[in-house]
Amino acid sequence: MTTPVRIPKPAPVSKLDLIHRPRRNRKSDWARRLVRENVLTPDDLIWPIFLKDGDTRREEVDSMPGVERLSVEEAVREARRAVSLGIPAIALFPNTDPSLRDAEGREALREANLVCRACRAIKAKVPGLGLVTDVALDPYTSHGHDGLMRGEAILNDETVAVLVGQALNQARAGADVIAPSDMMDGRVAAIRKGLDAEGFEEVQIMSYAAKYASAFYGPFRDAVGSGALLKGDKRTYQMDPANGDEALREVALDLAEGADMVMVKPGLPYLDIVRRVKERYGVPTFAYQVSGEYSMIAAAAERGWIDGDKAMMESLIAFKRAGADGILTYFAPRAAAALKAGL
Ligand code: PBG
Repeated sequence: MTTPVRIPKPAPVSKLDLIHRPRRNRKSDWARRLVRENVLTPDDLIWPIFLKDGDTRREEVDSMPGVERLSVEEAVREARRAVSLGIPAIALFPNTDPSLRDAEGREALREANLVCRACRAIKAKVPGLGLVTDVALDPYTSHGHDGLMRGEAILNDETVAVLVGQALNQARAGADVIAPSDMMDGRVAAIRKGLDAEGFEEVQIMSYAAKYASAFYGPFRDAVGSGALLKGDKRTYQMDPANGDEALREVALDLAEGADMVMVKPGLPYLDIVRRVKERYGVPTFAYQVSGEYSMIAAAAERGWIDGDKAMMESLIAFKRAGADGILTYFAPRAAAALKAGL
């Protein structure tokens, strides 16, 4: 025979004599809305889009659930969708045909390369949308690095000369914002000078100023097809994740060289850097929620381990709270749609 469990009586509650009850401001939806410090709007979003050559219009990126590589035609369609969702700008990244990649990344300079064709098509059909193009050689090189190589070394000044040509090629195709992601020293000044000399004074530069050597870029390299090619790693040009002060110095240099906007990348693991950059320089500061960050959320949501929409919105408001003016994120269309739906 089992003895009945005796449930002890709760102790009598004596009301706490509290002056401050922070919960009062959280008591209902309207009260929470009233004291909300940060808001996310579609205006905060830049949508990175992957492009592909060939006949198929769309193909899935295996390591990024919900993200596809698009033909130029489909990219135009998504550009229209971006406008209808209120997203101000998209960023283009090509998956270059392997036969067009070489050690020098010469395809980057070709007038009719994939990115330039997409720029021309989108500018013609969707003129009101901001077009951001990435300057770096990794989608074009047979070794997967962002710069030219001699032996194991990534050459700085020789690479910068090519990057200027790449930036001009993109500007001629209609790019509004040149975004150098290569981390070579002195490239912002060189690109600014090159743009101005050709009459592109209005083309902005958003520099990937503090870009870290990160494992979170893995799915991106899959998407643009550079991952399998990459020899070694990018630690001689991308930053050491252990460093914070160095990021401020990188930002200072890029601003001095003429950057209009700066970026911190990756995003969530580097929110401290976003905050420090914004506080120190007070300039337009962007964060890139990179592919690996996207995939962690998307994959966990796919398995039902987290609520994908809620995790997405929570991650995006974190950037705003840290002081970011905008976020490059693969969630852009989904987040904009969620905002529209009042989520
Ligand atoms: C290329 C580039 C990278 C990303 C943007 N531009 C990858 C890299 O430096 O290896 C990463 C973006 C992402 O992971 O979403 N220079």
